[in-house]
Amino acid sequence: MPMPMPHPEPSFHIRELTEVDAEALLAFEIENREWFESHIEARDPGFYSVQGVSEHIEDYLSGLAAGTWHPFIIEDASARIVGRANLKNIHTPPQAAEVGYRVARDAGGRGLATLALRHLIQQARERWGLTQLIAYVYEENIGSAKVLDRCGFARATSDESPTGSERRFVRLL
Ligand SMILES: CC(C)(COP(=O)(O)OP(=O)(O)OC[C@H]1O[C@@H](n2cnc3c(N)ncnc32)[C@H](O)[C@@H]1OP(=O)(O)O)[C@@H](O)C(=O)NCCC(=O)NCCS
Repeated sequence: MPMPMPHPEPSFHIRELTEVDAEALLAFEIENREWFESHIEARDPGFYSVQGVSEHIEDYLSGLAAGTWHPFIIEDASARIVGRANLKNIHTPPQAAEVGYRVARDAGGRGLATLALRHLIQQARERWGLTQLIAYVYEENIGSAKVLDRCGFARATSDESPTGSERRFVRLL
């Protein structure tokens, strides 16, 4: 009798957010709400409904059409959303954008944020012709700071960072 195959490592891929992602995105955001709120600013409670998420997607896709926003999702092999990554405020200031990312708690520590940030860097260069990326991270968010370090971001001096416990990281492209 043949030996059973070992369980394959799930694979992940990144693609642009689309309007049909509302229900899957809502499930991802609800499942990880507490986790995200312990690291980043909480969303408005109105976000957590199909209508709220549909409006959010519409808003992001309008940003994509206007060239100010580039939203991506990370999916696993069964098309479950396990993460998100965005270029935000593209060209404000000129030739720069902000990066943002979040990964499901149960998919953490497998390099997904690193994969997503590398994708944002590539898109920033190739699609948008940017020369600088910026990230804002709470001081205690060690995992995120590690991802930024690994992807070539440098911590700005305290003079260049906003007040409070957020730190600014910059990467020249
Ligand atoms: C921060 C976050 C995006 C990291 O996602 P991820 O897919 O787990 O990231 P990666 O696997 O690419 O890398 C994380 C690294 O940080 C390390 N790490 C995570 N938490 C850590 C901690 N508290 N102390 C030390 N290292 C830590 C991991 O071990 C990993 O390093 P390794 O690959 O050398 O083992 C994810 O935890 C998350 O979404 N958090 C909530 C939202 C958030 O903070 N977003 C970022 C806002 S700036």
